[in-house]
Amino acid sequence: MGKQTADRMDEIDEALRKILPRKRYRHSQGVRFTSAALAMAHGADIAKAELAGLLHDCAKSMTDKELYRTCRKNNIALSESEERNPALIHAKAGAFFSRERYKIDDEEVISAIRYHTTGRAGMTDLEKIVFTADYIEPMRFKSVHLPEIRKTAFSDLDECVYMILDDTLNYLANSTKDIDKTTAEAYNFYKEIHDRKNSHSEDVS
Ligand SMILES: [Fe+2]
Ligand SMILES: [Fe+2]
Repeated sequence: MGKQTADRMDEIDEALRKILPRKRYRHSQGVRFTSAALAMAHGADIAKAELAGLLHDCAKSMTDKELYRTCRKNNIALSESEERNPALIHAKAGAFFSRERYKIDDEEVISAIRYHTTGRAGMTDLEKIVFTADYIEPMRFKSVHLPEIRKTAFSDLDECVYMILDDTLNYLANSTKDIDKTTAEAYNFYKEIHDRKNSHSEDVS
């Protein structure tokens, strides 16, 4: 990583430390470093992974009202499920602020921030890395499958994304929250890869 990038990352880190509640800031640090480690394991751009990880929740401390207002003011279109579930909006708003406030112009980084909550079908490696890091960073503890998911994250990213989506959909099925269309599409996409891999391994045995 060049000095300029490192300096820029320090500046953003400082800014986030001021605006995010301590717990959220720590989580952002966790996602930053976990993203870097995953980028190393999978040969992705480490600096981009760190930057996207650091910024992914930059809009998370905003109230629902502020999030709606930001989107309306800046012509950010919301999907039906985002209209119903404001918790999803921070990803889109985060991508917007990363561009406007933190001057990120790298589309890969912006997109990894944009899809970190819902995922999507056919994610780029960077998107998969930030999506995964958000779920497995050291401060996370809620999923019972975390040990297995964490291990898989470093060997098979597609399988890991499938495990996370499977976990998430199971969780949502047991709650009152509805499932975002993009997440459902992502699940089908990665389940297909998972099923294909399993049918191959049955062939050879
Ligand atoms: Fe988030
Ligand atoms: Fe997060």
